[in-house]
Amino acid sequence: MAEKINVGSKVFSSKIGAILAAAGSAVGLGNVWRFPTETGANGGAAFILIYVLFMLVLGVPVMVTEFAIGRHGHKDVKHSFESMAGGRKGWRWMGLFPVVAGFLVLSYYAVVAGWTLYYAYEAGINGFAGKDAAQYAADFEQFSSNPYLPTLWMAVIVMMTCGIVALGVQKGIERGSKIMMPILFIFIIILVGCSLSLPGAEKGLTFLLRPDFSKVTGATVLSAMGQAFFSLSVGICCLCTYACYFRKDVNLFKDGLSVASIDTLVALCSGFIIFPAVYSISGLEPNAGPSLVFITLPNVFQTVFGGMPALAYTFSLIFYLLLVMAALTSSISMLEMSAAYFHEEHRISRPMSAFLVSTVCLVLGTMCSLSFGIWSDVKIFSLGFFDLFDFLVAKLMMPIGSFLMCIFVGWVVDENIVRNELTNEGTITTWLYPVWRFIVRYIAPVLIFLIFVNELGVFDFLKK
Ligand code: PFF
Repeated sequence: MAEKINVGSKVFSSKIGAILAAAGSAVGLGNVWRFPTETGANGGAAFILIYVLFMLVLGVPVMVTEFAIGRHGHKDVKHSFESMAGGRKGWRWMGLFPVVAGFLVLSYYAVVAGWTLYYAYEAGINGFAGKDAAQYAADFEQFSSNPYLPTLWMAVIVMMTCGIVALGVQKGIERGSKIMMPILFIFIIILVGCSLSLPGAEKGLTFLLRPDFSKVTGATVLSAMGQAFFSLSVGICCLCTYACYFRKDVNLFKDGLSVASIDTLVALCSGFIIFPAVYSISGLEPNAGPSLVFITLPNVFQTVFGGMPALAYTFSLIFYLLLVMAALTSSISMLEMSAAYFHEEHRISRPMSAFLVSTVCLVLGTMCSLSFGIWSDVKIFSLGFFDLFDFLVAKLMMPIGSFLMCIFVGWVVDENIVRNELTNEGTITTWLYPVWRFIVRYIAPVLIFLIFVNELGVFDFLKK
């Protein structure tokens, strides 16, 4: 007899809801500016090919591992580790991993998310019109170093995130993802269409589609691995937290592949939006992270649509709204990591735990925001707060967490438990299981170790 499915409020009510929520977490600011920047710096299509390869051999297997751990416990991450380890208590401290990571990652991510919200507002009031290139740089410098404004916009993002998480798994996270993700896809299609129709777009397309293997070095390969990792949000038990709410009939391999495909597609589309637009202005090159999105692009949008102010206005507004939604669906997953722990383990109501975590993130986020201005001289290990939090999450916790999860599922947990979880108690047969198991036991730990030492700068000599 078919198992009765629990569709209580702590479970995503539909399969599509689960996929959209996980994809919402993965698709974020990393797709829109980190991916094009890395692609630009590492030989265009050659980098993309290597990136997709790592997505398949590393990103998806680790994501499926997180899904298996989370769904097995069906409550919160601490409980998941405990129940998978067969009641052995040694691994339950891993339950604290997403709590700490959630605080850290949301605190700095919300700062940039706040910038995108401010830029969406500026686009909405037509604040980009009639400026010259130098003015965009001066405006961004002035805004990001202001002691109050960016902090205020960051607070708005945290409060919006808090409101959605407080509403619960189905009414907040799932409904939010089901509304925002389709809008995000529609915006992307509109922007790709517009960008590809620009005169001179072929130059950007050529760059994106013709591989230049001469630019590929050992460091390129390692950067592609790191990007695949960050983009999928794997390693800090974020997807593990969401998987606690997956129904028992969800096919974890299928969902993992769907989420990775959506994430990669959005990253590629960001390239199709940004490169043709940037290359259609002669002399411009896609440059690094924040300055690409907040200095180069506002200028590009006004210049390429110069003769058509209505189009420049609409394109800018849609682009920054797209960024806001990508950031918001990711920040929801970040807050949920910490809030779920206090809600489940300490029996604090969901709205209250969301509120408490948000309050702490507001304090930490203010410190990160001020590190671009009046606190720019405050350094810990020679890093400002923003860079320090980014370093702790992206360069330390993500690889360490992924490594530990692969060791846990590949070597510690009884294989029958793992196989049952991934084949839905033997009800689905999949040839992917043995492939996944081999990767998680032998290949992923070695690759992750390489990323880890690369991020710490051990391979810097490869970058010439
Ligand atoms: N994957 C997100 C992005 O590409 O922007 C970033 C992210 C989300 C990292 C959630 C970590 C996380 F837990």
